[in-house]
This record gives sequence, structure tokens and C-alpha cells, in this order.
Amino acid sequence: MANVKFFNGESIPLEMHKVRIVQKLNLLPVEERVKCIAEAGNNTFLLKNKDVFLDMLTDSGVNAMSDRQQAAMLVADDSYAGSATFTKLENKVNEIFGTKYFLPAHQGRACENILAMTFVKAGDVVPMNFHFTTPKAHITRLGGRVEELLIDEGLNLVSDHPFKGNFDLNKLEKCILENKGKIPFIRMEAGTNLIGGQPFELANAKAVCELAKKYGIMTVLDASLWQDNLYLIKTREEACKNMSLREITLEVAKGFDIIYFSGRKLGFARGGGICMRDKELCEKMKELVPLFEGFLTYGGMSVREMEAMTVGLDETMDEDVISQAPQFISYMVEEFKKAGVPVVTPAGGLGCHLDATRFIPQVPQSQYPAGALACAAYIAGGIRGMERGTISEEREPDGSERMAAVELLRLAVPRRVYTLSQVKYAIDRIIWLYQNRDLIGGLKFVEEPKVLRFFFGRLEPIGDWQQKLAEKFRKDFGDSL
Ligand code: F0G
Repeated sequence: MANVKFFNGESIPLEMHKVRIVQKLNLLPVEERVKCIAEAGNNTFLLKNKDVFLDMLTDSGVNAMSDRQQAAMLVADDSYAGSATFTKLENKVNEIFGTKYFLPAHQGRACENILAMTFVKAGDVVPMNFHFTTPKAHITRLGGRVEELLIDEGLNLVSDHPFKGNFDLNKLEKCILENKGKIPFIRMEAGTNLIGGQPFELANAKAVCELAKKYGIMTVLDASLWQDNLYLIKTREEACKNMSLREITLEVAKGFDIIYFSGRKLGFARGGGICMRDKELCEKMKELVPLFEGFLTYGGMSVREMEAMTVGLDETMDEDVISQAPQFISYMVEEFKKAGVPVVTPAGGLGCHLDATRFIPQVPQSQYPAGALACAAYIAGGIRGMERGTISEEREPDGSERMAAVELLRLAVPRRVYTLSQVKYAIDRIIWLYQNRDLIGGLKFVEEPKVLRFFFGRLEPIGDWQQKLAEKFRKDFGDSL
């Protein structure tokens, strides 16, 4: 977003786009919202979209496309093999990351499957700045293990550290020395998802890659959330102030052997892929693409999405475009701070993250505070957020609960989708919820899948706190929705 000052002195983000296609929203009365969340097993993944007012579940596959993207979709070259659309995408990805080879996949976790199946074997260790659910699931499925080597400040939810996604280089070197011959690759995640969309800095990424080279270990960048990380490097890292977005991207990318991304996040479309400079690396992974994804010139993606992604990747190199979400997130964080609502600071990318541990300290971790807060936010405003806490973990092999390092409710800000008045509404309802936080109780599982339980597990509230919360809403808001 351009630097635009308001005459009245107000400091608010200004959209540098106009809306030309709209979708009608539905806001149910609070009593209906209580019923809907019960029907969804108290899991916001199981809510029906028609019952949701603001869908802040994720930024995945729900970012708004531009007119240029929509136009590009009309000229897509639909062929099984040798599609010109694929060549365009391949060239664009290689131009942006400075790579030579590109393997397409239907989404980010498909890339993770290919990477894990090619490189990870039982007993291996994969160091990461922080884990994400899907790469971790693929690595552990094959008998590998993840080591999280984030800087200590990264888990400090109230902080002013601008780069909480940085690797701790001492911890990384120690891990390398202790696990000689067992590390297939080091994975670094841009816009570190599970700690609140926090970025790493260019200097740290470079140092990680140098260390890896010293020990002959391969490096992998998960660039799914690169767009936000890039904006935050540009605006926070002194040494990068005079670099263009393209220069920063190339500088980060050049240290990594492999870069993969979810095109549901990066590039405002749906799909994904893996890129690299080394032909041999490409050859090693190539066979798995037709086996699991589709032929090498589409990899499970529709040609229309590939066209949109090509244009979307180009738009990602435009500061007016990529500043929209981080500036909205920063606005939310600042408003919450003013109202005393516990929120992860500093503002990161992806979304605004509420700290459920401090929001509802009366709910013990064994009763899933982040999950409970997700239900409460839906009841308070028809707002669908995502639990990022213990429910998102998997149990230990002995069946005991693995408590998450942090209990967060993520309110994602899909890019270019919501307006400031909608964001203000979300802030208003969450502040109301905070003032009524004593009413919120915990949850317990009634159906618990073994793998990725947060997607389809069903829970129920402990006690009748949801009815009490709805009654208080009625009392305070009268007949307002
Ligand atoms: N890496 C990161 C950092 C992600 O955030 C995601 C997805 C993936 C990989 C997997 O990509 O969904 O295309 O298979 N994150 C989504 C989210 C699910 O809502 O945070 P995918």
C-alpha cells in the first residue's frame, strides 16, 4: 500500500485496489450460531461456509484474484503434455527464484510428500526453524523426526523482535554435529505459520545456508508464506531497505538447494511446486510427480490455475499488492493491544493471532483453550478462525497428549478479500468476547482421528458455557445480529 496520509490524522490502511466481483455474506443470529458450532462438532473446519460471516480460517486458496489473473485464465492452453501454460509458469517461477527446474504439484503438501519420499528414511532428523503440520506428518510417517531450532524469542508471544522466525544458529550446529549422517535436509519456513506468521530475516537465511554447506547438508525453503515474509524483510531489515522485492527474493533463494511452495498461498491461485537449480536433484524427485500428481506439465493443477498463478507470482513482486494483508494484520494487532486483548506481537503475516492461554487462563491446556476460543469467536460474531494449539498436535506414540508450545486462535486475513469495516467488525466482536471471557469454558474430544485430528475431529463443550455466552450476547446487543 502506498504511503497515504489522512488529513484527519487517522492511521489506517488504505486498499490500493477496487472490488469488481462480490459475494453475498450471511450473518446468522447468535442462537443459530450456537447450533451450527454444535453441529460442526465444535471444530471450525466442519462449519458450513453458508453459516459463516467472516471466513478467517485460512489464507489458503481463498485469496482474491486480480482482473489480470482472471483474464489470463481465459487463454489457458489445455493439453495433457507440453502445455504452453505450463512453460509460462515454469519460466515465471524460475525467473522469480533464480532456479532452473520446476516440478508441478497439486498443492504444498504434495511437494512435501515428494520431498519426504525421496530423501527421508527411518531414523532421520529434519531440523526446522519450526514445524508445520503437513511436512511434519510426511516426515514422521516415514520414520523420521523433526527438530525445532527456532530462536528462543520466537516462542515469546509478547515481543518486539522483528524476526521471530529466525533459526538459532548455535542450536542448528549442535544438532548437525549430534546427528551426523542422519540429516537429509534442513527445512526453513518463510512466514513461520504456527508461531503466528513470523518472518525470518535475509541475514539469518543466508547464515543457515552457509552452515549447511559447511557440513554438506541440503537446504529446503518452504516459500508458501514468502509473500508476507518478503514484505516484512523489506520493511524491517535495515540492510534490505534499498533492495527491490525481486532482489530480496533472489538473494534469499540463491542459498537454498530446493524451494517449494503452496500455490494456494503464494501466487493467489491454487497449486504448488518444487524448484531447484540442480538437474540431479530434479531427476531424483521427477518420477514421483506422474505417480502421485499428474504428468510433468500440470502436476494435478488445472491449466487455468497455472495461468492465474503465473500472473499472481508477478503481482507478488509489487509492494502495493503484498502490503495489503500485513498492514491489515498490523491494524488488528494494534487495536487489540489498545483494548488489552492478548495477541501475538509483533504483527506477522498470514493473520492476527490471539493468545488463548492469556485470553482464557481458566481453561487448562488439556481442555484445548485455542479450540474453545475458536468456538467462542464464531458464537460472538460468525467469525471462523483456526485453532493452532494442542488440537493441531498429534498424540505421542504412547497415546499421551502432546501439549502445544503455544495455544493460538488464528484469524487469517485472506489477501485482498475483506474490507476495513469487516476487519473492524471482527475486532469489535473479539473485544466484546474478551470482556466476557469469564464465560468461556473448555472442550473435550468425542471423536478423535489418529492423523491430522484437527481437520475432522469432533468435540463438545464442557458444561453449558456456549448457551450462557449467547444469552449474554443477546443482553448486550439486543436484537442486533
Ligand atoms: N507450508 C506452509 C507454511 C503452509 O502454511 C501450508 C499450508 C503448507 C505448507 C501446505 O500447503 O495446504 O497447499 O498443502 N497451510 C494451510 C494453512 C493449510 O491454513 O495454514 P497446502
